[in-house]
Amino acid sequence: MQTRALRIVLPGGSGQVGRMLARFFAECGHHVTVLTRGPYTAPWQTVHWDGMNRGPWIETLKGADVCINLAGRSVNCRYTEANRREIYESRIGTTRLLNGVIAELEDPPFVWLNASTATIYRHALDREMDESTGELGGGERISRRRRAPETWNFSVGVARDWEAAFFETPTPRTRKVALRSGIVLSPAHGNAFAILSRLVRLGLGGWQGRGRQYVSWVHEADFARAVAFLIAREDVDGPVNVTAPHPVTNREFMEALREAWEMPNGLPAPWPVLQIAAFLLRTETELVLKSRCVVPGRLLDAGFTFQFPRWPEAAEDLVRQRREMDA
Ligand SMILES: NC(=O)c1ccc[n+]([C@@H]2O[C@H](COP(=O)([O-])OP(=O)(O)OC[C@H]3O[C@@H](n4cnc5c(N)ncnc54)[C@H](OP(=O)(O)O)[C@@H]3O)[C@@H](O)[C@H]2O)c1
Repeated sequence: MQTRALRIVLPGGSGQVGRMLARFFAECGHHVTVLTRGPYTAPWQTVHWDGMNRGPWIETLKGADVCINLAGRSVNCRYTEANRREIYESRIGTTRLLNGVIAELEDPPFVWLNASTATIYRHALDREMDESTGELGGGERISRRRRAPETWNFSVGVARDWEAAFFETPTPRTRKVALRSGIVLSPAHGNAFAILSRLVRLGLGGWQGRGRQYVSWVHEADFARAVAFLIAREDVDGPVNVTAPHPVTNREFMEALREAWEMPNGLPAPWPVLQIAAFLLRTETELVLKSRCVVPGRLLDAGFTFQFPRWPEAAEDLVRQRREMDA
């Protein structure tokens, strides 16, 4: 990490990942600005933007050191036509807008990290996907005979177009890194860890589907440390997988979470139950059924070390933090 204080701008930094990163960098002594459609108040600077048009917010990027764009409508919803349009536009549109602005600035940030996703890789039950040998998804198949639901292709298409939009405009003074993140797990309320923990504590924390699908996850502490590492490493650009080095199957994932909560048993949710639950909860089964077997090849090659490389220890830590917060 640089020793001098950096000016860090976070478009879309009011959400789960953004709040965590903003706090992390503010506590490290850096100057943090979040671009938000608001209203949003935080202990750091917040500036209004609409994610679509140029405006006074551009001033925040002039002379800034780092841009971390996290804007994107949550994918935790039914993929209706309207939601699909918003999921797509909020990612590709904001990325194109920032590209136009950053390419024209005389003193742009020296590095721009743009959110991407581990979902960009194909459904993989057979082998790990790193940046050099991993295969991108599209025309997904669950098995030789069965095509994946169309929703899976939608997510991969968004991810591919998102990265294409990010890299399409040359920004000679700004290094670009696409963060192909696994699910970022934090003890805070309202995110995936909280939802899964609730299921576990209700005795419903068995495997989902057949439980063979891989989960690519990363502890929030490692996510923040990896972002800081990538800011500092001037030799790293392009797509970088930000996931723990040991993806686990959904069965292993749920089992370790149950153990961390000291819940020995949990009812599994086979495919038909999941379909109904997803419909009732207004979400999509893809989020738990697609197998993401993604590993952080480039981070490890660059010498990054994980505080939480394995899920059981990460689960224990997150549960301990959650219990402390609830106490
Ligand atoms: N969380 C994960 O595990 C994970 C894993 C892989 C990838 N990612 C990606 O990382 C990014 C951040 O994730 P997150 O979990 O922090 O998401 P989040 O909590 O949903 O926050 C995303 C932020 O994007 C902004 N936004 C939403 N709709 C928008 C729109 N139509 N136009 C412009 N901005 C919009 C919102 O900020 P305002 O309302 O303040 O404008 C929101 O706070 C997302 O792009 C996500 O796809 C997340």
